[in-house]
Amino acid sequence: MLTESRAQPLLHRYPIRHTFPSREDAASLNLSLSRRTWHERETETTVRPGGGGPGPPRTTRRTAPPHLAPPWPHRTVPLAVASPRPEMPLFSVPKEVAVGTAMLGVAFATGLLAGKRYPSLLFGTSKPHKSIIGKSSPLWQYILDHSLREHPILKKLRLLTAEYPWGKMMVSCDQAQLMANLIKLIKAKKVIEVGVLTGYNALSMALALPDNGRVIACDINEDYAKIGKPLWKEAGVDHKIDLRIKPATQTLDELLAGGEAETFDFAFIDADKESYNEYYEKCLRLIKKGGIIAIDNVLRCGMVLKPRKDDLATQSIHHLNEKLVRDARVNISMIPMGDGVTLVFKL
Ligand SMILES: C[S@@+](CC[C@H](N)C(=O)[O-])C[C@H]1O[C@@H](n2cnc3c(N)ncnc32)[C@H](O)[C@@H]1O
Repeated sequence: MLTESRAQPLLHRYPIRHTFPSREDAASLNLSLSRRTWHERETETTVRPGGGGPGPPRTTRRTAPPHLAPPWPHRTVPLAVASPRPEMPLFSVPKEVAVGTAMLGVAFATGLLAGKRYPSLLFGTSKPHKSIIGKSSPLWQYILDHSLREHPILKKLRLLTAEYPWGKMMVSCDQAQLMANLIKLIKAKKVIEVGVLTGYNALSMALALPDNGRVIACDINEDYAKIGKPLWKEAGVDHKIDLRIKPATQTLDELLAGGEAETFDFAFIDADKESYNEYYEKCLRLIKKGGIIAIDNVLRCGMVLKPRKDDLATQSIHHLNEKLVRDARVNISMIPMGDGVTLVFKL
């Protein structure tokens, strides 16, 4: 549960009327938080008091017609009750400290601007973009506004995960939705997730599976999953998620040894990049013909264009990309979504 104590840092940043962060903060959280959900937008209408007379417009809620109702019961998920904030003096630090801090800020901003114009000034290397369409781009916002239908508990898990410094590892929400749609399309029952974190994608897949479906969720660190587990339960799908805490290669080997080759419908590979080829080969044996493997981070923020000698993770991904384009066992599509995702269709 998102308790009040956990929500406090968020409330401090997004106080008073704003339930959601600013656009800039949302961008840094890797998501669109400042927008209403798909369902909220669909069930709002703007009216004028007195049947269209003068006065400020007023927004009211209406019941969605059946064809617009989401497939899950909708309810608003409040983060917590905002507490009043004390009045802050204009300067709560000595004037000299404030001036010094401001000067440092100007120097930092100048450095950043120079770095933008001349990227090699930043730490001596050129800094690639985080994704094909920048997360702060209005176009990315438009994509989310016009495609994302996020389950309320997925949204809650996304917000919760984004509170942590490592939250940026979380899968992109539009990408998770694509995978859930594929799972429904192929009527999948058994799926694998290699690299779970708090389980945003594991939960998204579990929601897309039938009640007797199963997600084999592989991770080496249970601490992340412990954060997400209560929300898996709240969504009523925890019985579909079989979390296995050990190196993913070991779990995949155990599945193969247990006679589960060619029994899975879908796999998502999103753990340590150096082992991607091994994960791919094992997952390929585990999924059925017609099954799909989704491989994340195949563009590595653009670094695949020129992998550095000391960057083993990007080299590993680049080698797998080179192999996949020639792999006669599969058809593929490389999609510039998030950090790049390759969809592999087993022949
Ligand atoms: C990018 S995150 C996964 C994000 C996740 N798919 C989601 O839906 O947000 C990578 C995860 O891989 C896990 N991991 C790293 N090395 C691993 C290994 N050898 N075996 C299993 N999991 C591993 C990490 O603990 C981390 O939780």
